[in-house]
Amino acid sequence: METDNKQRITDNYDRKIDYLRLSITDRCNLRCTYCMPEAGIKAKSHDSILTLEEILIFAEAAADIGLSRIRLTGGEPLVRKGVVGLIADLTAIPGIEDVSMTTNGILLEEMAKDLYAAGLRRVNISIDSLDPAVYHKLTRWGSLNQALSGLKAALAVGMTPVKINAVVLKDINDDFEPFAKLIYEYPVHVRFIEYMPAFYEKNRDKFVSGEELEAKVKAFGDVMDAESPGGAGPARYFRLRGAKGSFGIIGSSKGHFCAGCNRVRLTADGKLRTCLFSDREIDVLKILRQNNDAEEVKAIIKQAIKEKPRDRFDKREGKISRSMSQIGG
Ligand code: 5AD
Ligand code: SF4
Repeated sequence: METDNKQRITDNYDRKIDYLRLSITDRCNLRCTYCMPEAGIKAKSHDSILTLEEILIFAEAAADIGLSRIRLTGGEPLVRKGVVGLIADLTAIPGIEDVSMTTNGILLEEMAKDLYAAGLRRVNISIDSLDPAVYHKLTRWGSLNQALSGLKAALAVGMTPVKINAVVLKDINDDFEPFAKLIYEYPVHVRFIEYMPAFYEKNRDKFVSGEELEAKVKAFGDVMDAESPGGAGPARYFRLRGAKGSFGIIGSSKGHFCAGCNRVRLTADGKLRTCLFSDREIDVLKILRQNNDAEEVKAIIKQAIKEKPRDRFDKREGKISRSMSQIGG
């Protein structure tokens, strides 16, 4: 429940901004075909990546002005050394109520226990297909078994909600039947995500719109609208009768996606981005290394939030300069 003495920050369109996505590395142990080329994206040098201490200083400043939920992203956040300790530190920040993570799950089997002990209570796992061959092809070398073991480990240690992200590509992974089986068996929430060619356009001809995704979910028949598990976000959820989990749809090509936007992002190299689709960035790394002044960091975050673009059309159209693995989705 929200209390009066709690900080609250809104942007110029009166959207309450309470959610911070922290990309803690631009590196990844997979190469999903909708995200990067096989050779990967040139990783930033060590020096140009925020240290864990700098990330913590930023998160403290953000919490102080009213952001209360943090999601760790990447690249693949679990390949960053010290991630478990970082979670423990982030969960200890006064005002931070929730720390979550988006991961490909490959390292989750071995790390789930430690992550939970450090305070991580929920994860989103990217699993685009439940067919091992399709999964392998989509991720270029990933093992579905490993990702599913990660998923099961997350459930076994008690994380909840556990969500799956599946970016849907036409004729590749657009059969939802195996996912329907999964949500009858496990309490997981599968979100079908509209592919965004603006970040990596190699699969442009495989685009499936949010409307089509919704129609495919509704084709299961006995489908009801459902609450968003674990708080507000961009997905619309549907329940299939008798299922333990649910289906969700995330379509971003339409403007209404932006009306409820509640987030800002910090890239691994310390740039604050207030919109996924806008290349406007504030160089937080520079400020942290020049003055290391918490008040200045707070002022910068406040200012950036005020100037958050209204929607994804509030910019020149075209390609976005950074890849998803650098922004963190
Ligand atoms: N379109 C949509 N989602 C993408 N992701 C990465 N690239 C794209 C893209 N081009 C998302 C995936 C993954 C998360 C880390 O980033 O959903 O789960
Ligand atoms: Fe890695 Fe995620 Fe990009 Fe796949 S989508 S290559 S798991 S960063």
